[in-house]
Formats: sequence, structure tokens, C-alpha cells
Amino acid sequence: MRGIILAGGKGTRLNPLTLSVSKQLLPVYDKPMIYYPLSMLMLAGIREILVITTTESLGAFRDLLGDGRQWGLRFTFRAQDEPRGLADAFLIGRDFVAGKPACLILGDNIFFGHGLAGQLKKSARLKSGAIVFAYPVKDPERYGVIEFDRRGRAVSIEEKPAEPRSHFAVPGLYFYDGRVAEFAAALKPSARGEIEITDLNLAYLRRGELKVEEMGRGVAWLDAGTHESLLQAANFVQAVEDRQGLMIACPEEVAYRQGYIDAKELRRLAGFIPNAYGDYLLRLSREVRGGGLK
Ligand code: DAU
Repeated sequence: MRGIILAGGKGTRLNPLTLSVSKQLLPVYDKPMIYYPLSMLMLAGIREILVITTTESLGAFRDLLGDGRQWGLRFTFRAQDEPRGLADAFLIGRDFVAGKPACLILGDNIFFGHGLAGQLKKSARLKSGAIVFAYPVKDPERYGVIEFDRRGRAVSIEEKPAEPRSHFAVPGLYFYDGRVAEFAAALKPSARGEIEITDLNLAYLRRGELKVEEMGRGVAWLDAGTHESLLQAANFVQAVEDRQGLMIACPEEVAYRQGYIDAKELRRLAGFIPNAYGDYLLRLSREVRGGGLK
């Protein structure tokens, strides 16, 4: 499966922070925002990843992420010159996806919780149809909203409805089969002029090929698109990391635990980061992989 991180947009709600820096490069406590969705793709076992961002920010993302080899990955970078909608990721990434199943994750969506890695790995085995998630929120009108019938089957999805039919939002994490670019190409822009991910999901729903999985309350789903939510996300990460002594969404750690890099390589990477982050990598390199301390 291929992965796409959509990290474009103007980030206007975060101005002036985002006047000269891409939102998805801003810090969420101890690491750049994009590390969080990137780690999700890595946990799903996805290693070929397309990063889409604005023309102005391409260089900065390349500088941060490199070609991916250091983490056992392969990155491709593409620009989106205008925010034409989330489904545009599959038009920009059409040749990258090349008719294979693909996972799209939004560059400002942060997930953390129990059972998530297993759910991701399972979803990445998708061969046909699409998988989206349903997550309970108190302000569904801000999101794509999914409605279920009495038997728990998804019957509708609406983008930012004024009167939501449920309190289940669709997070910015989507798995699609090899037809996704073809379906995206057939979409018409919505009233706000974007090709909507919700319309792409509806294309699968109408064919009876959309699977909706509940993402339970044991998972934290945060978006970091406003000053308040950015600070809340940072506080959340700090609180959990401080309590557990483990990092959330550390790509070097995920690469090591997945077996993409060995302890020697992890120590080499630690050498570039002369602070607590690097110390954490060093400590990790002395652990038995996947287990406790040596
Ligand atoms: O966060 C989940 C929600 O994301 C879903 O529930 C909605 O169905 C989906 O439409 C989307 O809603 P948002 O209001 O969060 O979408 P927004 O336009 O803010 O875009 C999300 C991120 O994607 C944002 O960080 C900027 C980036 N983006 C957006 C567009 C439209 C791009 O990189 N390119 C784009 O063309």
C-alpha cells in the first residue's frame, strides 16, 4: 500500500504563525507536526510515501525529511499550488499511486491510543473498497459526519452539515483501493470550490463498498489547526510522554521497532540530535526490540 500525507493549505487560522512557515512544520511539543501522521503511516507498515505541500514549502519539507532512507522509507514530494480540496491528493498523486491501494492522512491530524497500530495494520491490508473511521465528537458540524442506521450500517456522510445527523466525525485518515484516482477524477467541485473527500467517500458508500470502523474513545484524535488546539495537542503530548517516558510519534523509534533500521543506525541518528530526544533514541538502541530494557 502507498501512503500520502497532505500537508498543504494556507493555515490561515494559525496566522501569523503560518505566514512564513507551513502549519505542518510547526512544533507539537517536541517534534514537527508532520511526524505524527507520518508515524501513523509507518505503524500501518507503509513505506512508500508521497508528501504533498505548497510550492513555497516543498524545500523545507525536503530539508526536514530527506529521501526517507534514514528511516527505511521512500519519500516523494509534490506541490499543490492551490488548495483544491482533499481529494485532489489523488489527482496530484495519480502516477505515484499507480493503481495500487492507498492511504491518505492529513498532515495536521494527530492520533494516539490503544489498539491503533493493530487497526492500522489491518486496514493497510485492504484490497477492495474503502475504509474510513467514525469518531465521537462534541462539535460534529466542523467535520465530515457519518450517519448510521439502526443496524449500525453507514447510510450517509455529509461535509460540515449545519444540522449533523450524528455525533460521529470522519477523521482525516482514509484507506482506498486501486480505483481511488479514477473516482477522484470524476468528482465535481463543491459549492466551496473544492473536490471533497466526503464526495469520494460517498462514491464508495453508494456502491456499497465503504467500510466504516469505529475509532473508540480509547483513542485520542486531535487536530492542530487553531491556536487553542495546537497548544492542547502539545500539552497532551507533553503530559503522556512525561508520564510514560515514551515518545509519541517518533519516526526513528517506529523505524527501529518495525525493523527498518538497526540499533547501530539508530545510534547514528541519535548523534545528530544532541538533546533529550537524541538521548531517548540512544536509550532505545539499548533495548530489546519491541520489549523492555536490556
Ligand atoms: O480533520 C478531519 C476533517 O478534515 C474531515 O472530517 C472532513 O471531512 C474533511 O473535509 C477535512 O475537514 P477540514 O475542515 O479539516 O479540512 P481543511 O480544508 O481544513 O483541510 C485539512 C488539511 O488539509 C489542512 O491542514 C490543509 C490541508 N489541505 C486542505 C485542502 C483543502 C491541503 O493540503 N490541500 C487542500 O487542498
